Amino acid sequence: MEISKVNCWKAFRSLLFQLDSEWAHDLTLEALGSLSHWSEAVEALRLGLRAPQRPVKIWDLEFPNPVGLAAGMDKSAKALPVWRALGFGFIELGGVTWLEQPGNPKPRMFRAIAEEALVNRMGFNNPGARAMAEALQEWKSSGAWPDCPVGMNLGKSKLTPLESAAEDYALSLETLSPWVDFFVVNVSSPNTPNLRKLQDKSALSAILKELNRRNTLNRPILVKLAPDLSWAAVEEAVEVGTENQVAGWVAVNTTLARPEGRDGQSRRGLAETGGLSGRPLRSKSLEFTRRLSDWTQGNVPIIGVGGIIDADDVRATLDAGASLVQIYSGLVYEGPGLVKSILQGLRQMEQQKEEILR
Ligand SMILES: Cc1cc2nc3c(=O)[nH]c(=O)nc-3n(C[C@H](O)[C@H](O)[C@H](O)COP(=O)(O)O)c2cc1C
Repeated sequence: MEISKVNCWKAFRSLLFQLDSEWAHDLTLEALGSLSHWSEAVEALRLGLRAPQRPVKIWDLEFPNPVGLAAGMDKSAKALPVWRALGFGFIELGGVTWLEQPGNPKPRMFRAIAEEALVNRMGFNNPGARAMAEALQEWKSSGAWPDCPVGMNLGKSKLTPLESAAEDYALSLETLSPWVDFFVVNVSSPNTPNLRKLQDKSALSAILKELNRRNTLNRPILVKLAPDLSWAAVEEAVEVGTENQVAGWVAVNTTLARPEGRDGQSRRGLAETGGLSGRPLRSKSLEFTRRLSDWTQGNVPIIGVGGIIDADDVRATLDAGASLVQIYSGLVYEGPGLVKSILQGLRQMEQQKEEILR
């Protein structure tokens, strides 16, 4: 990013960071949502943040570039056209559950600024799969649908008992299948009681079998894993996934682990209950990608997510075996020019490599 734009963003960020984290998020999303309905504004953003193309084709879908928006940022598709205008090459909406739910009591999102990290215990606040389908239908008929793949993150409704999880996920999948290009089964959020138990062999197998049976439009179905799983449990999940023809893996969700905070503000944020995202997740997410790539022998694509903040992080994640990457916390800390600066950085790295080889 150019120096003046970086400074401008840092000044705006320091204002936003005076606000409660979720409030700042909601305000920003409201603003982006309003912009999304104004095609000239979306076009101006797109032109201002135009990044080098870097097309990737996976599951027969054309991705303009491999840098996507991670789940949780836009849980109700409020700002769908704007994410593409910010340069993202794909968008994962949600997490959405079959039943509408308010999520956990507030406050439930916190910053650890010196660590470039967030802690959240949102608990799948979302409008429910049917309302999400209506929102997507409206975007489609408005003509503002983004020219990149759109995926949906599926969670389990809090009221649905674990034994009925497969049905809960399947109802959301059936309702949303006409509108999205791929699904991510989220069995790894730390903020819904016992959700992570669904990563166990028999539970995961039951969910995937039911989803496969009801996936009449043949949408790619991926599974998102928790970074706190033991390696043995990951290997087991991969076995189950392979038996049930998962289309890919998303590595990783937020972690319950904590680094030591560098200052008082960070330590207060890190002391909150919930899942940690951002910079401290980087090495774990990279290791996950590497091992998943080994264990799947490169047979299915991996989306690397966790602590990705610059072009070096993206390069390392792709080199570790990921085909795509996603970002949430990086956008909060680095601002709207992030995707452009990453894609420019990747281009520069490649040019330097070519020059050395010449
Ligand atoms: C406030 C917040 C809400 C999130 N909600 C979801 C969610 O609904 N489903 C999901 O799979 N991941 C969710 N995530 C996890 C992100 O998609 C991502 O896996 C994680 O934040 C690591 O990426 P990052 O370090 O770039 O933030 C959420 C993260 C945050 C910070």
